[in-house]
Amino acid sequence: MRGPRAEETLRLMASGSGDGSRHPAPSAQEIIVLRDVKKSFGEQQVLKGIDLVARRGETTVVIGGSGAGKTTLLRLIVALERPTSGQIFIDGEEISQLPERELNRIRRKFGMVYQYAALLDSCTVLENVAFPLVEHTKLSKKEIRERVEQKLSILDLDPKVVCDKFPSELSGGMRKRVGLARALMLEPPILVYDEPTSGLDPLTSRLVDDLIEEMRQRFGVTSLVISHDIASCFRIAHQAILLIEGRVEACGTPDELMDGPSDVAREFIKNSGVDTSRLGRV
Ligand SMILES: Nc1ncnc2c1ncn2[C@@H]1O[C@H](COP(=O)(O)OP(=O)(O)O)[C@@H](O)[C@H]1O
Ligand SMILES: [Mg+2]
Repeated sequence: MRGPRAEETLRLMASGSGDGSRHPAPSAQEIIVLRDVKKSFGEQQVLKGIDLVARRGETTVVIGGSGAGKTTLLRLIVALERPTSGQIFIDGEEISQLPERELNRIRRKFGMVYQYAALLDSCTVLENVAFPLVEHTKLSKKEIRERVEQKLSILDLDPKVVCDKFPSELSGGMRKRVGLARALMLEPPILVYDEPTSGLDPLTSRLVDDLIEEMRQRFGVTSLVISHDIASCFRIAHQAILLIEGRVEACGTPDELMDGPSDVAREFIKNSGVDTSRLGRV
């Protein structure tokens, strides 16, 4: 069985061309749409024609080996880089040709959660979480502190306890929550995670999976997760996309990737060594 998502993405893949005029505009449900996106650095073509649809409120996980182009894909989507060719629609708006000053507005639609939470070690939790507000708003110090405390509380961190601590004084799980508080500060509709479980032990990785799902359910955000963690993919993905050497090798639910027509996808999952029959969904 194939979900409506897979149908849409397959339809896009089949149509194949970057000529946007032949495609209907993305529907309101299609919060991220890529059409025949290519990206080269010098001579090297890293992305070779990517078609992708991520639906609002769902979790899309992009998997693939090291060097497949996952981070590049993510940087194009969050408007940190421009594609060499092709179209990228965010919330219905085509962004690849937007002038630089417009791109900041697009970037604010994304909350970024990095590997190891990427907190600034020399800054307190308050300063770390306040950062997006200081950068993007003209709120007073008092207002900023209030909003930071509110976000920390929502994420089950006691502001009185953590605000003046430094990241090194927190547990790994708490640091992840602080990183999420910062990512949620501007209340973005989309959260993106680059290798959120990388370098974590299996138990902490599963806690991060729970946290990603919790964010989705509580705040209704769309999640885009870049990962090479197959177990995580099976637990959280509504849609999994396998990227191999800059191309979409397969897409669908994780189960569809395992039972689908792509031998490469089946092998990729098998070689991960993860026993997918024993994985529960979050
Ligand atoms: N800014 C850049 N300049 C030149 N080459 C880059 C740049 N960013 C990525 N690359 C190259 O693109 C390829 C894919 O990298 P990346 O997107 O980071 O892959 P992944 O995240 O899947 O490991 C690599 O060969 C990398 O060296
Ligand atoms: Mg990467």
